[in-house]
Order: sequence, then structure tokens, then C-alpha cells
Amino acid sequence: MKFLLSITVGLTMAFASFAGFAAGDIEAGKAAATTCMGCHGASGMRNAYPTFRIPKLGGQQAEYLALALKAYQSGERVHPTMQAQAGALNDSEMTNIAAYLSSLDAPASSELGGGDAKAGEAKAQVCASCHGAGGGKPISSQYPILAGQYPDFLAHALSGYKSGARNNAIMKGFASALSDADIQDLAAYFGSQASTLSTPTNW
Ligand code: HEC
Ligand code: HEC
Repeated sequence: MKFLLSITVGLTMAFASFAGFAAGDIEAGKAAATTCMGCHGASGMRNAYPTFRIPKLGGQQAEYLALALKAYQSGERVHPTMQAQAGALNDSEMTNIAAYLSSLDAPASSELGGGDAKAGEAKAQVCASCHGAGGGKPISSQYPILAGQYPDFLAHALSGYKSGARNNAIMKGFASALSDADIQDLAAYFGSQASTLSTPTNW
């Protein structure tokens, strides 16, 4: 109970937040998201340095997407392009885009990546308590779906939490205990799970 309480407090402090997150307007979000498609709408597009595939956003949880945009805007999450993109959006544009992306349900895909998915499954027990079994059904709409995300993006995210390059109090605690091999194995496991995440090419 004490542990749960400190998680809740940590969360409130760790996140830029919306005062009462409300579902956005899907049609308005679709129009506002056109600038995002050059990167997120093309399957397998890569970030150059470091190299990892740009994350799938289709079918991701709306509130998580909106909070991620807020975190780039506030500088809590650092990535120059994404900070510029999010910096140009107001709250309602963020919630509208998040509603649109979340509503997409193109055929999902999954893949293994370089790690050992079987070993990753054994290490993933602790993650399920927040991200859900297989990373597919998080317990909170503020937490991301991991199932079916690109393994190299998942590994990039975990390495970022571990090094502090990505700033999140909760995930830092879990990632700092992981070795590089653990990170590859977990990325392989979650990336291999079927999910609703997608990168439709014709948004
Ligand atoms: C030039 C390419 C590019 C453009 C354009 C772009 N993004 Fe991104 N986006 C990225 C990259 C690269 C990342 C991963 C950054 C990181 O490591 O945090 C990312 C990450 C994200 C994330 C976090 C996803 C997660 O699972 O944590 C969200 C949400 C997002 N982008 C939304 C948008 C939206 C909305 C737009 C349009 C307004 C947009 N992006 C435009 C390249 C781009
Ligand atoms: C106590 C709840 C909790 C637990 C347990 C947990 N996570 Fe997370 N995870 C979160 C939250 C909250 C976020 C969003 C943080 C942020 O905005 O950067 C997150 C984000 C992530 C991301 C970034 C995904 C993206 O799309 O950017 C990855 C990867 C991840 N977690 C993997 C794991 C793994 C692997 C484990 C187990 C070793 C784990 N998590 C355990 C709460 C948790």
C-alpha cells in the first residue's frame, strides 16, 4: 500500500498533466496531424542519431500520447524535432491529435528484434503490473502500450530511462536495474507481442 501510494505521488509530480483529460475531436485531430505523417506515417522511418525507428503511434492510448506531447513541449522529454513539433501545439490540438491517432486500427504487426524474446518474457513479469500482460493493456490510460512497438524504439526508450536522457521517475527506477542484454531481451519480447499499435502508410 505504501508502495502504491508513492507511485501515485511520483506520477503526479513526474508528469506534465492536463486538468481533467477529455477525449478530443478525431476529425480535427486528423487535419492537425498532417505534419506528423512525414515521420510517423511511413512504416520503418528512422531517427538518424542515434538510429532507431520512429515509434508507432496508431492505436496508442490517447492520454499517453497527449502527455508525451506535453512532456516534449515542457522540455521534460528531450528530442529537438519533437520539442519543436509539440511546441507549436496548444492543449486542444494535442488532445485532438491524440484522439485521432488512438482511433486508428490498421492491421498490427510485431517483430522480434535482436534480443532473446523468451528470456525477455521471464524478465517482463514486473512490467506487467503497469503495462499489462504482454504490454498490451496498461492499467492506466497514462501508460503506453508496449506490445508490437518497434523493438529498437523500445530499447532506445529503456536505455534513455537508464542513462537519464529520458526523464521519468517511475521508469528510471525500473530501467536502472537492467543490463544492456536485459534491455534487448525485453524489447524483443514486447515487440513480438501482437497489439493494436500500427504505422499506417496512408493516414
Ligand atoms: C522529423 C520527424 C518527426 C516528425 C515530423 C514528428 N515526429 Fe513525433 N517522434 C519522432 C521521433 C524521432 C520520436 C522519438 C523521440 C524520442 O526519442 O523521444 C517521436 C516521438 C513521438 C511521440 C512519443 C511516442 C512514444 O511512444 O513515446 C509522440 C506522441 C509523437 N512523436 C507525436 C508526434 C506528433 C503529434 C507529430 C506532429 C505534430 C510528430 N510527432 C511529428 C519524429 C517525428
Ligand atoms: C509502476 C508502473 C510501471 C512499471 C512497473 C513499468 N513501467 Fe514502463 N512506463 C510507465 C510509465 C508511467 C511510462 C511513461 C513514462 C514517460 O512518459 O516517459 C512508461 C514508459 C515505458 C516505455 C516507453 C514507451 C514509449 O512508447 O515511449 C517503455 C519502453 C517501458 N515503459 C518499458 C517498461 C519495462 C520493460 C518495464 C519492466 C522492466 C516497465 N516499463 C515497468 C510505468 C511503468
